[in-house]
Amino acid sequence: MAAMLISRRSIQLVLVVAAVVAIAGAVHAAAGETTATTTHIKVYWHDVVSGPSPTAVQVARAATTNSSASFFGAVVVIDDPLTSGPDLNASSPVGRAQGTYVSAGKDTVALLMNMNFVFQSGRYNGSTVAIMGRNEVFAAVREMAVVGGTGVFRWARGYAQARTHTFDMKTGDATVEYNLYINH
Ligand SMILES: *[C@@H]1O[C@H](CO)[C@@H](O)[C@H](O)[C@H]1NC(C)=O
Ligand SMILES: *[C@@H]1O[C@H](CO)[C@@H](O)[C@H](O)[C@H]1NC(C)=O
Ligand SMILES: *[C@@H]1O[C@H](CO)[C@@H](O)[C@H](O)[C@H]1NC(C)=O
Repeated sequence: MAAMLISRRSIQLVLVVAAVVAIAGAVHAAAGETTATTTHIKVYWHDVVSGPSPTAVQVARAATTNSSASFFGAVVVIDDPLTSGPDLNASSPVGRAQGTYVSAGKDTVALLMNMNFVFQSGRYNGSTVAIMGRNEVFAAVREMAVVGGTGVFRWARGYAQARTHTFDMKTGDATVEYNLYINH
């Protein structure tokens, strides 16, 4: 009986110690976050839907999508080039935007963006930033959340602002300026 009590006590003690260690770790991690740096990255995102080698392809659509001006229910997979300047052919490549966007607005063209910016040059080469948010494409500025990252951008939190640079009504191709503000 006594032995059982003791062992129960020691189990409780172990649990208490474990909890204290866990809390100390969490406090330490929270303190670490305050030392994070903020990085600003400006890139141009090219959504090429036309031509022989599109980088954005529609993979699904709702039965009602065709009759809706908002394209509600359309799903597009992207592997869009990211460049340092607005000209896709003349600017140096920075990486790719890989993911999906879903037309999620019934009455407005509002996309749910779900993509990774995959950096393939410079000091961020090999690192990624995960972006998820609402993109009401005809608004002047659209803000989306930076929800995470890898490599240089581990523990990333922040936001992205998108501004349309050019939109070709005939082809549907678009170039969008993205400014990322990332704490990591
Ligand atoms: C939507 O329109 C395209 C042509 O514009 C047609 O090929 C397709 O079958 C239509 N889809 C639906 C679900 O009506
Ligand atoms: C970029 O080059 C492609 C062909 O390589 C061409 O079709 C396209 O018009 C060019 N875009 C610009 C903005 O010059
Ligand atoms: C980026 O990193 C990869 C893998 O390490 C390397 O092969 C490639 O040459 C690098 N690209 C640039 C532009 O530095």
